[in-house]
Amino acid sequence: MKVRKAVIPAAGMGTRFLPVTKAVPKELLPLVDRAAMQYVVEEAAAAGIEEVIVVTARGKEALADYFDKHAELESLLAARGDNDRLAQVRRTSELVQMEYVRQPEQLGLGHAVACAARVVGSEPFAVILPDDIIAAEPGALTQLLEVFERYGSSVIAVEEVDGPAIQSYGVIDPEPVSDGVYRVRGTVEKPALADAPSNLGIVGRYVLTPQIFDALAEVKEGAIGELQLTDGLAILLKDQDIYALRFQGTRYDVGNPMGLLRASVEMALRREDTGPAFEEFLRRLLA
Ligand code: G1P
Repeated sequence: MKVRKAVIPAAGMGTRFLPVTKAVPKELLPLVDRAAMQYVVEEAAAAGIEEVIVVTARGKEALADYFDKHAELESLLAARGDNDRLAQVRRTSELVQMEYVRQPEQLGLGHAVACAARVVGSEPFAVILPDDIIAAEPGALTQLLEVFERYGSSVIAVEEVDGPAIQSYGVIDPEPVSDGVYRVRGTVEKPALADAPSNLGIVGRYVLTPQIFDALAEVKEGAIGELQLTDGLAILLKDQDIYALRFQGTRYDVGNPMGLLRASVEMALRREDTGPAFEEFLRRLLA
């Protein structure tokens, strides 16, 4: 069955980026000249997603402005003959159809996804965490959808995480089935290092069957006192297989200032328009 919808949870307060997040949603912090969130919406569109459902909250109205058509600005750019910028601006509103639902209280990722249940309905869907930006060709979600089609069950992205850092992740108990693909035997959110069932941490891409919503309805407060999506996966596992894919690509955790900085530098170096001059600047700075 074709996966048409993706849920992007974006209701968090972004406390790691205070004070800037007093006024700007962290998902709109830029990587060069594009909001961080645009990269994940582009990834969704490239994977054939038609509708993105953003789970948002009070104070984050600017997210909808970013992805909305801005007719006045478009006319101005057209009148000036600034066609490159016009195309860039248009693109943000033409990627996919955007819907917004609100999460009235920050009760955790599992709760945020459950807030999208009515808009998703009874079809498989993707979940994309905008803190995880993944540079990959084909995109990470495209890679996951390929595994979803092959096995017809939920698929989650994982990567190897070494040492104590694993304690900030959801972690799977894996059974290898083919190159880079595992059948998930169990999941645990933010385990102590000694209790982690493997070094495969969940990264923010999921393709889920709609039965996850029944599972999420049963989830109790878990790690850090929140309703965790990972605990919903553990419940879903009782009824359905779940697979995990060690995707190909580079992932940036832009949920903290250091990660955003790293991603910004790498994106700026990769881009044709900024790369050469920026590289030269960095060389001089570090010499
Ligand atoms: C969330 C998920 C966790 C996953 C992580 C990936 O945690 O709960 O399972 O490993 O994203 O970025 P958070 O980073 O929001 O604490």
